[in-house]
Amino acid sequence: MLKFDYNYFMKDFIGAEHGFAESDLSGGEGIARSALERMENEKSRGLLGFLEVPFDGGPVEDILEFREKHLARFASVAVIGIGGSALGGQALRSSLSHLYLNELGEGKTGNRKKTYFFDNVDPYEIRALTEIMDLSKTLFLVISKSGGTTETNANFAILLDMVKKAPGTDYREQFVAVTDPKSGVLRKLAEKEGFRTFPVPSNVGGRFSGLTPVGLAAAAFMDIDIARLMEGARAGIERFYGKPLMENAPLLNALFHYLFDKKKNKRINVLMPYTRKLYLFADWYRQLWAESLGKCRDLEGKPTVAGLTPVPALGTIDQHSQLQLYLEGPNDKVVTFLKLDRFDEDIVIPEFYTGTPELEYLSHKSLRELNRFEESATELVLKEASRPSASIILPQLNEQTVGELIIFMEMQTAYAGYMYNINPYDQPAVEQGKKFTFGLLDRPGFADYRATFEEGYRKLDKFIL
Ligand code: PA5
Repeated sequence: MLKFDYNYFMKDFIGAEHGFAESDLSGGEGIARSALERMENEKSRGLLGFLEVPFDGGPVEDILEFREKHLARFASVAVIGIGGSALGGQALRSSLSHLYLNELGEGKTGNRKKTYFFDNVDPYEIRALTEIMDLSKTLFLVISKSGGTTETNANFAILLDMVKKAPGTDYREQFVAVTDPKSGVLRKLAEKEGFRTFPVPSNVGGRFSGLTPVGLAAAAFMDIDIARLMEGARAGIERFYGKPLMENAPLLNALFHYLFDKKKNKRINVLMPYTRKLYLFADWYRQLWAESLGKCRDLEGKPTVAGLTPVPALGTIDQHSQLQLYLEGPNDKVVTFLKLDRFDEDIVIPEFYTGTPELEYLSHKSLRELNRFEESATELVLKEASRPSASIILPQLNEQTVGELIIFMEMQTAYAGYMYNINPYDQPAVEQGKKFTFGLLDRPGFADYRATFEEGYRKLDKFIL
């Protein structure tokens, strides 16, 4: 079970100017209760699929059956998707598979298939990726809930063409579509081509879809135990769903962030794991939080300002980078550490230049111990500088704890959205950008966007040196 340690959010440790008293938390109980009620209401109307999917064993069974049939056929997997259709899979790869899975040598991957992500329209990256893959032995997962995302479809087109032309390939067998069960062009096309499909439930939004086939299909081919991942997510829901503030860590952390924003002028939300295995998890969380909370209208359509800016950081590396700013720059950040109670790995530092005190002190210390000391020292210096920090502590890093952590963050983000009285499940501004791109690419129906773009964009010329 995860633990949430919020000592250093409290005034007893960081003072009343930047920290909270217990009375502030009791004062926030009304806000928390309204958030619980809204979640209950939306869930009862079937809108919150992310809280339902861990209880549906069907997709896991289907994916495992598909994996069984095709494991020997493929050497690698290519995920074609972007945003919520790619970041969850990337977080699962680094946290639960080999950290450098794609760099492992011949014969060392076992049942873990190398997994490549095509989530950008960057010609350097796409060229480089296609040069290292064996096209005939790759399973292509085209992941798009809407089916209409430009970046995904551009990469889909390029890879489909390459596969069709490469020797020893069979594109109908190699391409799989993960998309809405009924609507969208990808669904229609997959049916026409006879591609295998996996559904993204209609009531689960992109960034909340890591525990649907969006994240699970690739994870299964990395030999991640997806059934156990779902078990962890279920345990998280059972532990937190509907629980009052002081028994509900995601609700409490959402309330803290909301209050830090509204009452203490802190508008930056740092998530800082102390293992690289969770760094892409912090990247996934950045999107979850940013796209869900960055809204300028509340539920009544009134102008509002919502959301702290999420920033991923990595210990110990950022102790030699961002930490200086965190300690002596503006006191506008709320840091959440992601800590492991136990690293399953350890390396003991060997005897090192005995007789040279500046180096000898390292002899026989373990990296696990060193990592813990560094993390505790960072917490302490932040506290001494009256900078708020809390920790989410995972007993170990495995499918069970990562499943619980995913649900923890999803619930926390949803609760925060409710506190701001906004809709955390839409992304109107992102949709706007997509429409301008369609216009520039001459997609029928978007000519107006091209005209508006040309009118607005030309003005930029004025200030170019
Ligand atoms: O969270 C979201 O909704 C977005 O980030 C989407 O996942 C992203 O835009 C990709 O959309 P789609 O899966 O429809 O291609």
